[in-house]
Amino acid sequence: MRQSNPPKTYRVKSFGCQMNVYDGERMAEMLGAKGITPAPEGEEADLVVLNTCHIREKAAEKVYSDIGRLKKPDGSKPLIAVAGCVAQAEGEEIMARAPAVSMVVGPQAYHRLPEMIDKAVAGERATDTDMPEDAKFAALPKRRKVGPSAFLTIQEGCDKFCTYCVVPYTRGAEISRPYSELLREAEGLVECGAREITLLGQNVNAWTGEDDKGRDVGMDGLVKALADLPDLQRIRYTTSHPNDMTDGIIAMHGEVDKLMPYLHLPVQSGSDRVLKAMNRSHTADSYLKLLERFRAVRPDIALSGDFIVGFPGESEAEFEETLQLVDAVRYSQAFSFKYSPRPGTPAATMEDQIALEVMDERLQRLQSALNRDQYAFNQASVGKTCDILVERKGKLAGQWLGKSPWLQSVFFEGDSAIGDMVRVELDEAGPNSLKGRVLESATS
Ligand code: SAH
Ligand code: SF4
Ligand code: F3S
Repeated sequence: MRQSNPPKTYRVKSFGCQMNVYDGERMAEMLGAKGITPAPEGEEADLVVLNTCHIREKAAEKVYSDIGRLKKPDGSKPLIAVAGCVAQAEGEEIMARAPAVSMVVGPQAYHRLPEMIDKAVAGERATDTDMPEDAKFAALPKRRKVGPSAFLTIQEGCDKFCTYCVVPYTRGAEISRPYSELLREAEGLVECGAREITLLGQNVNAWTGEDDKGRDVGMDGLVKALADLPDLQRIRYTTSHPNDMTDGIIAMHGEVDKLMPYLHLPVQSGSDRVLKAMNRSHTADSYLKLLERFRAVRPDIALSGDFIVGFPGESEAEFEETLQLVDAVRYSQAFSFKYSPRPGTPAATMEDQIALEVMDERLQRLQSALNRDQYAFNQASVGKTCDILVERKGKLAGQWLGKSPWLQSVFFEGDSAIGDMVRVELDEAGPNSLKGRVLESATS
């Protein structure tokens, strides 16, 4: 590896889940603290961080083709760091196959990126996929500018080992960030302009901690403490696992006004046999009963989920059980995927892998049911009055876009600004968004 000039500009490209988005923001902040600035639009940066996702499909291949394409205007390669879950899973291979990469850094080690950059400038390649005990978060700089809706990772890792999933291998064991550190970071986010905070974790509701009086608290205790921050107006959390749901978390949906009426609770399949083979350790029925308890305390709660079609051995009848579960729940939105065999996971070597055409056809049927329900949910919202947190300008002049409490995208026209909370009446529904009419607006 040749020596190079210290990078002046950077670009962080994040793929995958919201936790990767959060990590990408934190890496950008570290680079900022090192005096490196974001590259101007349309110009390749001196340093590119590819913050990768390994959850499905040919993720690694995509990384290699991205690396191949990166070029500065003079034809030279930028300094390239591969971060995220592909880095964790295939770090050594990346180093061997892609000489243009000078840094590989895993999701638990990215606080060490600044030192790695110094080494890379000196011509030394480095891989760091440790999962160190020392707190990554404590080593990161304070939060800077954030939008009105900010992410806050409170929990990382997964001990569930669903048989199809790479996350326990790429993100390591479940850990909870300390309560006081989270309150400090949340206060910082609010000071920087956040009006909504979404708490993140691979299993966010597995979070546990001790409050400042040394008492054990669960995620409900944390949410209640955050709700006391005066300028914070909305709280959300994602993603939850059915087995980590507690009475306290369910109850808080009826108690905390700032907690939005929305729950993302992946189920994956409606078939108990498939759920067992997935090692989900819940049944379709226990999942439905759990949702009923949420609806009992918060009747207007919008429900969302994740689904996998074509898990090895899934029969037509078992897939139809998933459709039945969807019919029973009536999701406001959901994410659905074709099963993708991940190297090193138990399901990848199970017998009876399902043909791609069968998966395609099942995914289409599932998505048309989910789209039908999403549209119906939006239509049922017409006539409601609610607050919209304005997140950005729309494409048309005078148009703004924000989110309803139920996480629907809502367009409206009028005088507004990013970060405003605007009262609207929802008066037109589309499949993916709604239109609202402003009733009154208050700058917050
Ligand atoms: N921890 C969360 C979700 C993490 S991954 C949970 O368990 O709910 C996000 C989603 O990706 C999963 O819910 C699942 O639907 C999907 N997913 C994970 N591994 C997959 C695979 N091998 N093939 C297809 N989809 C997968
Ligand atoms: Fe993956 Fe299952 Fe863990 Fe979710 S709970 S991250 S799907 S292993
Ligand atoms: Fe992808 Fe890693 Fe998130 S595999 S979904 S970036 S935890």
